[in-house]
Amino acid sequence: MTRLSGITPSGHVHLGNHLGAVRRWAAEREPEDLFFVSDLHAMTAPHRPERLRSLTREVFAVLLGAGIEPDSVFVQSDLAYELGALNWVLECTCTYGEAARMIQFKEKGAGQESVRVGLLTYPVLMAADILMQGASEVPVGTDQDQHVELARTLARRFNSNYGEVFVVPRAVVPKTAARIRDLGDPSRKMAKSSQQSPGSVFVLDEPDAIRRKFRRAVTDGGDEVRYDPEAKPGVANLLEILAACGGTSPYAAADSVGSYAELKDTVAEAVVEELRPVRERARELLDDSAELDRVRAHGAKRAAERARPRLEAALRVSGLR
Ligand code: TYM
Repeated sequence: MTRLSGITPSGHVHLGNHLGAVRRWAAEREPEDLFFVSDLHAMTAPHRPERLRSLTREVFAVLLGAGIEPDSVFVQSDLAYELGALNWVLECTCTYGEAARMIQFKEKGAGQESVRVGLLTYPVLMAADILMQGASEVPVGTDQDQHVELARTLARRFNSNYGEVFVVPRAVVPKTAARIRDLGDPSRKMAKSSQQSPGSVFVLDEPDAIRRKFRRAVTDGGDEVRYDPEAKPGVANLLEILAACGGTSPYAAADSVGSYAELKDTVAEAVVEELRPVRERARELLDDSAELDRVRAHGAKRAAERARPRLEAALRVSGLR
């Protein structure tokens, strides 16, 4: 089994990324695992080159700080040539309708005056990431489920049209924390783009900032602490976060606190302790550029070597070379 997943440096890594994805990536530590910073994916919306470069470095340090093996991490654009080639072949395996149907494309493209073509083809590049490495499992939150489904479809279609080259991957979505919500607006998922929003807690936030954000979190009417995502989405979100930090269920977490105020304090402290070691290790690494560069170069070499035979096979069977 090979697990593979990525995270886009379109902003700072937040608590939803951590609990729904990165923490789980770090938990198993299989030598075949691959996790990467998907900087190519951060170009689908207007971006500033210097900020992209510095966020890529930051997110890379956070992955290592979370405890992912240095052998298992790389930066996507270090494989830009390989991915660019497979991306084209897969774009020619995917229909326009399939790409246009993706929920994230519809959501992010809605109301925009001009949309980059990359926003439409973004899930195809994701499929290239996954299929090029022969990944069998893709651990993601619910928002990426549909994209992994597309990768499955493209793998099957390619294999049946041209020959068995790709492993058909499957998404692995966690039971809890698969969709952490914005603390200020529980109808939205927590997102990196809410840069100025007090509703996103970032992995590199200092403890006092984290406490402040939880104190301001939106709760619901009434005063009973109960896990009921339909009737009490704000409270349910806090309970899911508390449960994920403590390794329990949201129902058990609800039984452990008496009031909304106690819930907010308890969840804030749990998150501070959950993120403390990650923040400290990531900050140390960010101060050690030589080490970060060394790990990055090693990861790139390893991931490229692993990808090449499958990429060559895909080009050959589809009539190229
Ligand atoms: P990204 O950067 O949006 O998210 C990284 C991971 O975090 C999960 N996630 C969440 N989980 C719980 N609650 C939330 N509020 C929340 N927000 C995000 C995401 O589901 C994801 O697992 N396109 C991908 C990166 C990517 C990729 C890939 C993933 C590029 N290539 C290949 C898997 C395989 C993305 O932008 O994730």
